[in-house]
Amino acid sequence: MAEIHIRNLVKKFQGNVTAVDSLSISIDDGEFVSFLGPSGCGKTTTLRMLAGLEDPTSGEILLDDQVLFSSSSGRYVPPEKRGMGLVFQSYALWPHMTVWDNIRFGLTQQKVPKDEQNERIASVIKLLQIQGLEKRYSFQISGGQQQRVALARMLALRPKILLLDEPLSNLDAQLRIEMRSELKRLHERLSNTTVFVTHDQLEAMTLSTRIAVMRDGKLQQYGTPMEIYREPANLFVAKFVGSPPVNIITRELSPKHFDSALKFLGKRGEGAEKIAFRPEAMMINPSAAAQESRWQMKGTVAAVLPTGPEWILQIESEQVLLFARMETEPKFAAGDHCTITLDTPAFLIFDAEDNRIT
Ligand SMILES: Nc1ncnc2c1ncn2[C@@H]1O[C@H](COP(=O)(O)OP(=O)(O)O)[C@@H](O)[C@H]1O
Ligand SMILES: [Mg+2]
Repeated sequence: MAEIHIRNLVKKFQGNVTAVDSLSISIDDGEFVSFLGPSGCGKTTTLRMLAGLEDPTSGEILLDDQVLFSSSSGRYVPPEKRGMGLVFQSYALWPHMTVWDNIRFGLTQQKVPKDEQNERIASVIKLLQIQGLEKRYSFQISGGQQQRVALARMLALRPKILLLDEPLSNLDAQLRIEMRSELKRLHERLSNTTVFVTHDQLEAMTLSTRIAVMRDGKLQQYGTPMEIYREPANLFVAKFVGSPPVNIITRELSPKHFDSALKFLGKRGEGAEKIAFRPEAMMINPSAAAQESRWQMKGTVAAVLPTGPEWILQIESEQVLLFARMETEPKFAAGDHCTITLDTPAFLIFDAEDNRIT
């Protein structure tokens, strides 16, 4: 068992920066939870507090029934007693040591007997498929291999909990995708409770059992990837996940569309200040007869962007640029007129504070 409970966690730095603001979250045993948000939103600080590398200003951290930190009782468990393994963005392998010795280093520090050291090293080397590199120095292996060694070094210590801080962000695009699926397979095999930090929404979507979206130190939403995508709690979350991004119609910037959508939505649109819909929800036709149960607007194709498996259309309508996504080849060229049609369920509706109404 390894479940984490974070309660009212606050971290203030000198200069009045509140890096983490009253964060409460529970992570179940065996989950893969991603902290997702833009740079500076408090992801790393949260992870460092979990690991015991950063003292919280207040709040509580529990691992199962064990209190790791509590500002009210003054309890603090040091990092080496928390059973957590940490891997950073920069792998920080020892340059003067071979791969084998890099993995062994922590085991020696923990006074693991020599025979068991060798067994564990051989086992993680096999697990991460870095056989043959044992005698190389870290500068003699590629970035992807270094990241595997960093993971192997951490896993050899048999931590209960894995803490990963943007471990893939130093890798090139191709390798990232490869390592992403390897991380997923690794988690499926080991089922350690894992906390993963990333600013990459696709990484969080593809890997996580649940995602915690953060902004300015505050938790915005905590849910499964599909909940976050389909039922965003607020406009920030809606905008942060999905690529191309969600389309937004505001009273301010596109009053004509806004009013027409509001009229179409009827009671459901009460209190709405912003209306959004995903690119894949839009149906694009050269022209279309008005449909009672659907909302329509006219536009002009601004650009056609083939990605390979699909086509992204950029459409201009009443001075707003919208992204649509099509699975079949569109019969449009830039400059063509088109009609955009949306079904009622496609609408995400937000109030004046950007919180989702329906
Ligand atoms: N040691 C520190 N001293 C002062 N401010 C810090 C320190 N570490 C982080 N911060 C600030 O705390 C906020 C959150 O930082 P961080 O947790 O690193 O964000 P993220 O990992 O999401 O990019 C930022 O505003 C950052 O500048
Ligand atoms: Mg960070």
